[in-house]
Amino acid sequence: MDTEVNLTDDQKTQEYFDKYVPKYGQYRFKFMTAFLNEHAKPGESLIDVGCGTGKTLKLVKGSTPIKHLAGLDVSASSLRATSEATGCETEHGSILDQNFVDSRDSKYDYAVLGAVLHHVIEKNRAECNTSARLTIANSLRLVRPGGYLFIMEPTFEPRFMIWLVFWLKKMVGPFVPGRLHVGPEWINIGHPIVSYYSERQLADMVNPQNTEIVQHYVHGRGSKLAFLKLANIGYILKRPVS
Ligand SMILES: C[S@@+](CC[C@H](N)C(=O)[O-])C[C@H]1O[C@@H](n2cnc3c(N)ncnc32)[C@H](O)[C@@H]1O
Repeated sequence: MDTEVNLTDDQKTQEYFDKYVPKYGQYRFKFMTAFLNEHAKPGESLIDVGCGTGKTLKLVKGSTPIKHLAGLDVSASSLRATSEATGCETEHGSILDQNFVDSRDSKYDYAVLGAVLHHVIEKNRAECNTSARLTIANSLRLVRPGGYLFIMEPTFEPRFMIWLVFWLKKMVGPFVPGRLHVGPEWINIGHPIVSYYSERQLADMVNPQNTEIVQHYVHGRGSKLAFLKLANIGYILKRPVS
């Protein structure tokens, strides 16, 4: 069932994701399905935060014991696609909406954050970083004490280049009507400006979350996207029991 909640400042991100459907490979989530197949019990539940069109939920439904699944997203059109593809419960809202998080505190056994952190849009890199940390903290609150959060995030090196790309896009963006694709699909200019992180920055975000890091997973470190080096980084965090 769809539940309408306040989207607050995420209107622009919502409009962007209503138009641009993400296409990420499911190989990135092998570490998660392996963990779920080893630890999950029938009757347990999982929420995919920023679920997009539901590819990850479909993967979990088809390859793990977890059948009680929900997807949260700011994009209504993505949620419609999720619902059609998976039949899962959908929640229309933002993980940065404190009322939403308070009302679902400890509701699930597992939560997923797949390629969402760089899509948390703010005015500058420092604010993006602060909100990405809040995204992790809020996602952890959705799981019960002793429950798990899976994070999968593409990271880029060198750090100064992602900083430069962010600010170049910021400066040029206002003069670009809509979204301008420059070469490969992922290189484009236009609002909203995503804020990618390096492996080190992601590790810094994850470490102070007052939680246990159960697993750190690295996929494809060193592959290239134009002049940037890419690595898909996974974390499994456990919400403390007390
Ligand atoms: C790059 S897509 C990733 C989709 C999917 N998780 C995957 O791994 O393929 C990022 C998703 O995060 C959603 N999103 C961005 N900000 C959000 C927020 N504050 N709360 C919930 N979802 C958000 C977007 O609408 C989009 O569907």
